[in-house]
Amino acid sequence: MVDMSVRIGGVALKNPVMPGSGTMAEGLARVMDLNRIGAIVTKTVTPDRREGCPPPRMVEYKDGSLMAIGIPSQGPDYYIAEILPHYRSFDTPLVCSVSAPTVDAFGAITAKLSAPGVAVIEANISCPNLESDGKAFGMDPEASARVIRRMKASTDRPVWAKLTPNVTDIAAVAQAVEDAGADAVTCANGMLGMAVDVENFQPALGNITGGMTGSCMRPVILRMAWQVARAVKIPVIGSGGIATARDALEYLMVGCAAVQVGTQNFIHATAMLDVIDGIEAFCRRKGVARVRDLTGAMRPRHGLREGQAA
Ligand SMILES: Cc1cc2nc3c(=O)[nH]c(=O)nc-3n(C[C@H](O)[C@H](O)[C@H](O)COP(=O)(O)O)c2cc1C
Repeated sequence: MVDMSVRIGGVALKNPVMPGSGTMAEGLARVMDLNRIGAIVTKTVTPDRREGCPPPRMVEYKDGSLMAIGIPSQGPDYYIAEILPHYRSFDTPLVCSVSAPTVDAFGAITAKLSAPGVAVIEANISCPNLESDGKAFGMDPEASARVIRRMKASTDRPVWAKLTPNVTDIAAVAQAVEDAGADAVTCANGMLGMAVDVENFQPALGNITGGMTGSCMRPVILRMAWQVARAVKIPVIGSGGIATARDALEYLMVGCAAVQVGTQNFIHATAMLDVIDGIEAFCRRKGVARVRDLTGAMRPRHGLREGQAA
């Protein structure tokens, strides 16, 4: 028997596999047993109702997709009344993702959504900071830290910070949110990109730019997860291009304690179950008794070279 349990930022999970925010919805319970996954992560909720981005919202590539969805949200009251009840019957911790345009609003929505049934609040800090320069909070270590400090002061639930990859030094942002009290970091959201519909002389996305996700992003986000894991002591959750158990194992071995499966949930609805079973089979094959022993198990062939040392 392999011990698949992990402890992530204040919560015990049956196994280290969960969905990325926005990539599962209530209907998933019709095709798989949500008791089997490590956590349920819900779509980001914002303080006000939002329509999201104008269409087109998505461009597909062979190995990924470029998306500008823009967080359509029905707001926190709808979430509490209509979304949360769907998940009450499952014995799986629920992670509620939130986002807001100001630090105050992050605090208020965190307090409001610390409702019965919510185990963790995940901060989606990839949204614009409307009190400052409009750049995403997550692009600035100090702005990210302010958000996390306010959220921690507004809830007794663990707070996970979901980082944006659209930075030069992601480890600096991870350290800032750790110092601000984050219980874990998720690495990372979509990478900014764009595409042009040349026939029509138009941007392919209604929003012009969007977030690139899916398998093609894995080497880039994996590198970031490795850098983040070496920079912080809190658990790191890898999120970027995980489609198979092998992909998830890469993230665990570079230092992540858990993983989120995103785009692959749309391609293969029960992908998370295959990832869980595949990790367990790998542990059995390699004689690994506890999945948490895989965290950081990668051994660089030549040690750490100059400039790579922690
Ligand atoms: C359709 C779609 C919607 C998403 N919505 C959200 C969201 O609401 N909040 C969030 O933090 N991340 C959101 N994400 C990002 C995912 O949670 C995940 O971090 C990202 O897609 C990278 O993982 P992947 O390469 O496995 O897809 C969304 C991704 C997709 C594809």
